[in-house]
Amino acid sequence: MITRIGSITLEVPDLEASIDFFQHKVGLVETERVERTSYLSATTRHHEMILVESTTGTTALRHLNLEVAEGQLEATVAQAIAAGAVDCGELRHEGIAEAHVLEIPGGFGVKLYTGMQAVPEPPASDIARPYQFSHFNIGVPEVAPVVDFMVEAFGLRPSDWLRSKEQPFLAWLHCPVEGAPHHGVAILESADIKLHHIAFDYRDVADLVARADNYVDTDHYLVWGMGRHGTGGSAFAYTEDPSGMMVELGSGMIVIGKDPRWDGPKVWSMDDPRGVDEWGSSIPEKWLAKRVEVRSPIALAVRR
Ligand SMILES: [Fe+2]
Repeated sequence: MITRIGSITLEVPDLEASIDFFQHKVGLVETERVERTSYLSATTRHHEMILVESTTGTTALRHLNLEVAEGQLEATVAQAIAAGAVDCGELRHEGIAEAHVLEIPGGFGVKLYTGMQAVPEPPASDIARPYQFSHFNIGVPEVAPVVDFMVEAFGLRPSDWLRSKEQPFLAWLHCPVEGAPHHGVAILESADIKLHHIAFDYRDVADLVARADNYVDTDHYLVWGMGRHGTGGSAFAYTEDPSGMMVELGSGMIVIGKDPRWDGPKVWSMDDPRGVDEWGSSIPEKWLAKRVEVRSPIALAVRR
């Protein structure tokens, strides 16, 4: 069983610049550095973000990292392979007990892991730190088959769809655990395969506003926001990191089973503007156009 959408692993061209962004703009701290790999977190979890210096000078998604319940790694890997994932073998690195890499349809690398190491609470910060890695959003030409795969391979559950269940423009899924956030996985219709954005959650909207104020300056403006998503319920501000990846800062996402704003998965109409923003904005073109390339773990293994 997948218990948490834990983090992502990203290849970045300028490791120091990306670390600086996640420390000072998002509020993470570096918990460990091994050669040109940096582990970052804002909680007592060893990492909620892994940055690896790129050897090709490009930004790329390496792994979507899903946490598996203790003792269930082997069974979860087998379930994903039966659903169509390709086994890319075990992976050992800092901060976790064991992990296994898969390539899923679309060429995305998924790392299933157990045994996240605990680290000391990070020091207090002038502007509040996020309390969790929230979700990733991936772009694919056809959303519905990827939703079906996420359900079959990983046991994730649909939260909502935008446009229709059969041909969603956007779809959101959550982990099958008590108190899961409305979405840990979002899937966007897109002309090509891509990572679209990642997100971190803050306890209070005031913290989110403070983070947005700390982000904007004469060179940096929000890509979109602030607003409040109807689907998922969170207030949002979309920023960009120095590698070009879009990072959503959010607050107030619906907690499944505990929030009256959600009583089961539903289809939102494209004609209902509340789905994307209850406060009235519509999706900007520049938001839709954001993309980070996806590194196939099979191709990565061949290159080595
Ligand atoms: Fe998002």
